[in-house]
Amino acid sequence: LQLLSVTAEMFPFVKTGGLGDVAASLPTALRHHGVRTRTILPGYPSVLSALTNKTQAYVFQDMLGYRATVWEGAAHGHHLYVVDVPELYERSGGPYLGPDGRDWADNDMRFAVLSRVAACIAQGCLAQWCPDVVMTHDWQAGLVSAYLRYDERPAPPVAHVIHNMAFQGLFPREILSRIGLPEHAFTLDGVEFYGKIGYLKAGLQIADRLITVSPTYAEEIQTAENGMGLEGLLSSRAADLHGILNGIDLHDWNSLTDPAVIFPYAIGDIAGRRANKRVFQAEFGLPQDPNAMLLGIVSRLTRQKGVDILAEIAPRLFKTNIQLAVVGVGDADIMQSFRALQLAYPRNLVCHLRYDELLGHRLHSAVDASLIPSRFEPCGLTQLHALRYGSVPIAARVGGLTDTIVDANTAAIEEGVANGILFAPTQGDALYRAIKHGKKLFKQKSIWARLQRNGSLHDVSWHGKAAHYARLLLEMAGRAPAWSI
Ligand code: ADP
Ligand code: GLC
Repeated sequence: LQLLSVTAEMFPFVKTGGLGDVAASLPTALRHHGVRTRTILPGYPSVLSALTNKTQAYVFQDMLGYRATVWEGAAHGHHLYVVDVPELYERSGGPYLGPDGRDWADNDMRFAVLSRVAACIAQGCLAQWCPDVVMTHDWQAGLVSAYLRYDERPAPPVAHVIHNMAFQGLFPREILSRIGLPEHAFTLDGVEFYGKIGYLKAGLQIADRLITVSPTYAEEIQTAENGMGLEGLLSSRAADLHGILNGIDLHDWNSLTDPAVIFPYAIGDIAGRRANKRVFQAEFGLPQDPNAMLLGIVSRLTRQKGVDILAEIAPRLFKTNIQLAVVGVGDADIMQSFRALQLAYPRNLVCHLRYDELLGHRLHSAVDASLIPSRFEPCGLTQLHALRYGSVPIAARVGGLTDTIVDANTAAIEEGVANGILFAPTQGDALYRAIKHGKKLFKQKSIWARLQRNGSLHDVSWHGKAAHYARLLLEMAGRAPAWSI
């Protein structure tokens, strides 16, 4: 089966979060199930420079007012199409935000052009290749479905993957003709969303199938609390909505071969991790005390991640022998509160307020527990990294965190199945109590080691999940008997 994957991020070329990881690791995993993926990305400088064996696949003289060259080539084992429009993508800054931290003013055109080019490829504009199914990721690719619907030409089916409902790509109605959509697309069953054009809404409304990244999030987004206004639409499409957990790439996350891990250890070798904690404490300038419970966090520092709540209870935590290492970047006010805490509690807290892939890996190989106090979490990859590397996740009971963590309550400990700690609601007191509970278990060495070992043996791979994706894609292409979860 030939799949076209449409995404704004792909590790290692461009990544702000888990979307980048999944857009890279899912195609690799799908290969084992007979799905061959080609990925289409915007021509950011980091993508163009990574491309090898590149050939010009197509030139659009007027793609929504821009000249767009589509380069085809290989990079990091992926088959890529790269949409080269220097006016839209060749700039320094992030994929969505400029250096001033604000959305690029032309994000509407940047992702409309990406989606429209993808739609043309889906309709067969390249003589030599055409996909059987299209997979679109998040709001940035949501318009692909709309372009295919409001055009006469035959097109393959589309599966839209929801990584995060919080980002919706809402733009004023006035851009409708600039993005190349007809007037009649601006209706409730088209791209209209509360008087605006919704790129995510378009995908959710029109795509043939919807996939989200955990079974629990698939349920949550059908409720007013988590549906972000789209719960009605999603529940009306419940039969087409599938929750499939993310996996992680076990080659990237192998503590024996990972260059970020200072003292390599086999998965499940809890004793082998100890030296990593010691050198990590030294490297981060924290007291080298094996009895201090070392907590870590690798995260976007935004409200979604609940890190403001952690900052709020930090003074209470630091009254005890608890250390915290933070690797993260995000909202200015949250970063500022961590900076202030670090000045006040230099023996307990150290922050690296930047994006640092290597430190992210190293942290999970060294800390005792990883914190994920999210307000909502579609899947979450951080807890999978923590589990894999033998750090015990202490996480909010939401979304994919619920589906991947077995809480260390009395029964689960007695049964020997626990691998982490879950708490609810996402508020200071509950987080504080969860950490205190964790500290109690941390002192009971055999229980803690069991949690760590269970975590590292937990299946965080793509195996079963990619098989699930493949079955769904095959069914969409009409190559497999109808099947339901
Ligand atoms: P989200 O996609 O919502 O940010 P996930 O847990 O799915 O959350 O994925 C986040 C990914 O980004 C993980 O691979 C995590 O390790 C990584 N990450 C986030 N912030 C940083 C950072 N400051 N430095 C290094 N890696 C980070
Ligand atoms: C999103 C979500 C996260 C998920 C990731 C990859 O950014 O916030 O929970 O793991 O996408 O699907």
